[in-house]
Amino acid sequence: MQTEIITIHDPAAMSADIDRAAAVIRRGGLVVFPTETVYGLGGDATSAEAARRIYAAKGRPSDNPLIIHVADPADAGRYAHTDDLFDRLAAAFMPGPLTVIMPRRPCIPLSTTGGLETVAVRCPSHPVAHALIAAAGVPIAAPSANLSGSPSPTCAAHVIKDLSGRVDMILDGGEADIGLESTIVKLDKDQHGEYLTLLRPGGITCDALSCVCERVVIAPAVCEQLAADQRPLSPGMKYKHYAPKTPVVLLDGDGQDVLAFLQKEQAAAPCAILCYDEEIPSLRPEGLLPVGKRADLAAQAHALFGRLREADTLGASVIYAHLPPKEGLGLALYNRMIRAAAHTVKKV
Ligand code: TXA
Ligand code: MG
Repeated sequence: MQTEIITIHDPAAMSADIDRAAAVIRRGGLVVFPTETVYGLGGDATSAEAARRIYAAKGRPSDNPLIIHVADPADAGRYAHTDDLFDRLAAAFMPGPLTVIMPRRPCIPLSTTGGLETVAVRCPSHPVAHALIAAAGVPIAAPSANLSGSPSPTCAAHVIKDLSGRVDMILDGGEADIGLESTIVKLDKDQHGEYLTLLRPGGITCDALSCVCERVVIAPAVCEQLAADQRPLSPGMKYKHYAPKTPVVLLDGDGQDVLAFLQKEQAAAPCAILCYDEEIPSLRPEGLLPVGKRADLAAQAHALFGRLREADTLGASVIYAHLPPKEGLGLALYNRMIRAAAHTVKKV
């Protein structure tokens, strides 16, 4: 398949390109588009055939459901059974990096939801994503636009490397702002009332969610490794994720101890290191991949996936990185990195 790549320089002057991309979606084709989180691999969410194509292009198991993207949170009720809690979440966080799981309406085929009776709905804030969904006139099903198992793409170059020849069109809208995938919550109820189950942490933090819903329960798979016989609440959590080919080891310890360990390792053999900016002067430049200042979690989120891809090209036998804190945006970093490292944490 020939993949057409279109660079969007000015979102204000993109309507002809967007109309062509929307036509591709409507005829069942695949268009990669930028969002504020990561790039998405989009197809018509109401078409079982488009879902099949998405799974094939990504090399993804078809029991791993797709998020459907809408142009306006008010459209969610056409595809899912929304409720008051959804409306409050939408008012607080949409458009933006939040995905909400709700019971599915029949117009969304089971092939899109991986056979589940629920559907994940998100309304992205990126102007290109918004314009594409609005012009398509159908909700757009879109997983992250990477080959299954590699880090999510945060710029068009990552997408081109993974999916060139496998999709009809790629819209290049520059670097993704946040750099980690959306926060995913499920709306739940028990005898004490409503609550949110956090299935995947992202740009909308637990603290922010707690302002809208008092009870937020973090699903075990967010931080822990599930036993082989345990079923995660979100099918995606059972798959190996964000994994560079080079083994990743997360270092847990005091700043000075970690630095001393890294200096010793660098002297012994070449290694790749996702380091904080403050550590640059104390380490050798070979293999160093700075991710931002220690306290700047947003910069680290923005840099992480690109740096993991780069680290994999260095020919090192190991990639070292810091174990992130679990607070605020740190929880999203922790969740992605613990998977990239296949839960390998070294205490130093
Ligand atoms: O930021 C994002 O969410 C990006 C952009 C493109 O919007 N999309 C994304 O999609 O990360 P994907 O397919 O890579 O990850 C979606 C996750 C998967 O782990 C999937 O299992 C879970 O959402 N998911 C989707 N529908 C679900 C459902 N009905 N119930 C439980 N989990 C669901
Ligand atoms: Mg993904």
